[in-house]
Amino acid sequence: METNINKLKNQIGQEVKIKGWIANKRSSGSIIFLILRDGTGFVQAVVEKNKVGTDKFDEIDRLGIETSADVTGIVKEDARSPMGVELNLSNLNVISESHNYPIAPKKHGVKFLLDRRHLWLRSKSQFATLRIRSEIIWALHEFFHKEGFVKFDGPMFTANEVEGGSTLFEVEYFGRSAYLTQSAQLHGEAGAMAFGKIYTFGPTFRAEKSKTRRHLTEFWMLEPEVAFYDWKDNIALQERMIKYVVKYCLENCTYELEMLERDLKKLENALKPFIWMHHRDAVKELNKHGYSLDERADIGADEEAVLTNMYDEFIVLHHMPAEIKAFYMQPDLEEGDNRVLCNDLLAPEGCGEIIGGSQRIHDLDLLERRIKEYGLDPKVFDWYFDLRRYGSVPHSGFGLGLERLVKYIAGVKHVRTTIPFPRMINRLHP
Ligand code: 4AD
Ligand code: MG
Repeated sequence: METNINKLKNQIGQEVKIKGWIANKRSSGSIIFLILRDGTGFVQAVVEKNKVGTDKFDEIDRLGIETSADVTGIVKEDARSPMGVELNLSNLNVISESHNYPIAPKKHGVKFLLDRRHLWLRSKSQFATLRIRSEIIWALHEFFHKEGFVKFDGPMFTANEVEGGSTLFEVEYFGRSAYLTQSAQLHGEAGAMAFGKIYTFGPTFRAEKSKTRRHLTEFWMLEPEVAFYDWKDNIALQERMIKYVVKYCLENCTYELEMLERDLKKLENALKPFIWMHHRDAVKELNKHGYSLDERADIGADEEAVLTNMYDEFIVLHHMPAEIKAFYMQPDLEEGDNRVLCNDLLAPEGCGEIIGGSQRIHDLDLLERRIKEYGLDPKVFDWYFDLRRYGSVPHSGFGLGLERLVKYIAGVKHVRTTIPFPRMINRLHP
């Protein structure tokens, strides 16, 4: 019976056929141990000379890593293997031979591996990380569908900036300039006024000139936008979403998480109530730990790492000073300290920001004033002002960086391995 590796544990004692690749090989005398992979998992197949015969045994012994083959064998229980089984091989037919596969089962430098990303994808760690990514995407869609959201998409070519001019990618667009989208938020706001609750989910582009462990120039962002939500409703939605996704992964990605040696006890901390922290209190807390930050300072990656190592839980950092935030954020008119109704969501274990969100300005005059203060061209935003001219309502939303969420859940160090083909300042190939 033809099957997949991730189904083998339910087929103990049966003879099965798998189509896949030889991920690794080790021989000792009259026995060969193959690690087979088929895209659903990895399993050890044992080849015994006295079982398959000398000719077949020698043929298999000569095969190179990444040779594709169909393999027949009997499924045996094996408590020590991550799949819980191994295969007692009875036959192997080569589909296509592979020789001198460039990635050896030893340590290579990251540059070497990224140059061969199209092949590196086949390795265990990349298999695990990218399957987790796929499951996270599925769980996110499921969550928003259950919550009654409409999937809405923003354009990739835009005429406007959203998150500051310094990270815009400019492209030539039939004789004029266009920008690759920095965020679908503004178009998402139009969607919220039409459908109430929407989310966009797509590629997002930022000309990030810095090399960090959490920045890509092309990444995927999920952006919900909800009419009548205030900033607190917005945070509650973030908390439900994160818990839904982490729970989903704890239930459905155990094999992959184990492969990456993710500490599941730590991951379960995501299910604890989130800690809310006013920006002012965060500064005080940091200053107690050796920093000397100004009360209105921007809290950067290093500071976030310190904060998130102080607590087990997710931290909701809110009420940032208006001057360090984007033009569209609603000021807190009660505090009188020129702070905005925004929040960043900081993931634990030193991970830091994975979400940025806020309540939006819904008053036309105030929005026009802010656009001018930020030196932006009001003409480009005319359609956006219309959303405030015709039945404006308070509304809120946020942006979740998919790669940063994968980085946190999978427990990997750098976002570059959380996307199939990372794009960074020095990386456009393969
Ligand atoms: O905080 P940001 O810039 O917020 C916005 O773009 C809002 N317009 C979102 C909204 O309210 N609809 O970006 C949101 C998230 C960040 O928290 C981070 O997770 C991710 O997007 N992000 C990046 N991820 C990888 N590489 C980059 N260069 C990123 N820039 C932002
Ligand atoms: Mg941000």
